[in-house]
Amino acid sequence: MNRSAGSPAPNLVLVGFMATGKSTIGRRCARELGYPFRDSDSVIERRAGKSIPAIFAEDGEPAFRRLEAAAIRELARAGATVIATGGGAPMNSGNVAYLRRTGFVVLLWSDPEEILARCGTRANRPLLAGANDPRARIECLLAQREPAYRAAAHAVVDSTGLTREETAQRVLDAYRAHVAGLERRPA
Ligand code: S3P
Repeated sequence: MNRSAGSPAPNLVLVGFMATGKSTIGRRCARELGYPFRDSDSVIERRAGKSIPAIFAEDGEPAFRRLEAAAIRELARAGATVIATGGGAPMNSGNVAYLRRTGFVVLLWSDPEEILARCGTRANRPLLAGANDPRARIECLLAQREPAYRAAAHAVVDSTGLTREETAQRVLDAYRAHVAGLERRPA
């Protein structure tokens, strides 16, 4: 990521598994930084005119992933914006390239136990909704995705056992250190 004089600050992008707090932490960070907050899932729902579970049920996952790629491509064009992404977004290398080009990408990590506890009824999470053993499903998906998550990220914040405030603070510390580094770099 390059930053020349006068260009906007980089985006702060949150990636990670479902229920790791990307939207909640993202909103908090946006408030602190004075940046707008955008959420790729909300953009997709608005465009499609229906909920994520309805998109999966009526149009299928590939259609959802196409909408997701288009939303991310558009969101990544902004600067000085906090962007929360859906849990599957980093599995597409094109999404990652767009997000990293204009943004500092933070992986929010949580252990499977905490993810399961935060998933609630799972009704709004189509990838977990049909699972007989949701814990096993979470562990399996996490293991599949972990390499792509880590490769996508400039920094990792493990929120296991932390409050939302503590997690947001760690994300902000990492982002601010990154921006300070960019500003020190010769033009
Ligand atoms: C998905 C995560 C969801 C949503 C969709 C698919 C995934 O977003 O994009 O249900 O593949 O992990 P959250 O991570 O915000 O729950």
